[in-house]
Amino acid sequence: MLARDLWENVAGMRKEKELLERRLVLPLAEADLADEFGVVPPRAVVLFGPPGTGKTTFAKAIASRLEWPFVEVFPSRLAGDPQGLAGALRETFLEIAELEHAVVFIDEVEEIASQRAGDPPSPLQGVTNELLKIIPAFREQPGRLLVCATNFIRALDSAFLRHGRFDYVIPIGLPDRQAREAMWQRFIPAAVVDGVDVELLVEKTEGFSPADIEYAARSASQRALEKAVYDDGGLASGGEVSVREAVRKGPSTQDYLDAIGDTRTTVSAEVQADFLEDIEALGRV
Ligand SMILES: Nc1ncnc2c1ncn2[C@@H]1O[C@H](COP(=O)(O)OP(=O)(O)OP(=O)(O)O)[C@@H](O)[C@H]1O
Ligand SMILES: [Mg+2]
Repeated sequence: MLARDLWENVAGMRKEKELLERRLVLPLAEADLADEFGVVPPRAVVLFGPPGTGKTTFAKAIASRLEWPFVEVFPSRLAGDPQGLAGALRETFLEIAELEHAVVFIDEVEEIASQRAGDPPSPLQGVTNELLKIIPAFREQPGRLLVCATNFIRALDSAFLRHGRFDYVIPIGLPDRQAREAMWQRFIPAAVVDGVDVELLVEKTEGFSPADIEYAARSASQRALEKAVYDDGGLASGGEVSVREAVRKGPSTQDYLDAIGDTRTTVSAEVQADFLEDIEALGRV
């Protein structure tokens, strides 16, 4: 069981949150009502998007929101199993079937469900086939949701994504202005946020992923702390009081801008363009 506040803690991403709330949380949390309306509750979804956009965060937040246990399946860890990956996967899902409720998460699903091409067939083909068999069986059981995440959706086997297997194929993209603002508000310490030009940071972090913003914020804090303590007459002039005085200042807008300037963004323009294509070609919401 995860902490209960993960859903509220997802900063910004209002569009994605609303979509997940409506399509997934509502019919699962209000199963009886959904049934009255003839809504068949979703059983499996794919989240896709560039690295660091919050796919894992959302998978956990959904479990937290539903108050269902979160079970992550790690294919790489099952690979060492004596019965082989396919057998271990089958076994794992049999165990999961015994739970009353579960959000089951498979990250980087392209590693076990990529295009079944090639001659000779890849050794992973048996695993992909196994997963294709597991999903229909999983779909028969109420009270659970399979969430698969990938940042390389075009590599997935087309049979894997077809209708009937996954209810939704949902893009999780880079944060828009409003989402970045919410993230900055989250990451800047409350004591200094009023003195920081958040609007400017929001503007300067266009194209940043949540992970990039988090990184920039953390490194600004670290550098500001070091600067305050070692350079601005903190430790150098000695005395505990002066250290505290110096540190009390906290990071400034300039500290954040410097950190932003030094942060290499994860998602290149090319990756972003591919993502937009993928939304058109493969997204299903
Ligand atoms: N909406 C958000 N609000 C606050 N922090 C976020 C948000 N989305 C992501 N983060 C933070 O950004 C980092 C990356 O997020 P996450 O691991 O969910 O991305 P991902 O899409 O799963 O990445 P990958 O494709 O590399 O697996 C995490 O530290 C997470 O806490
Ligand atoms: Mg992830």
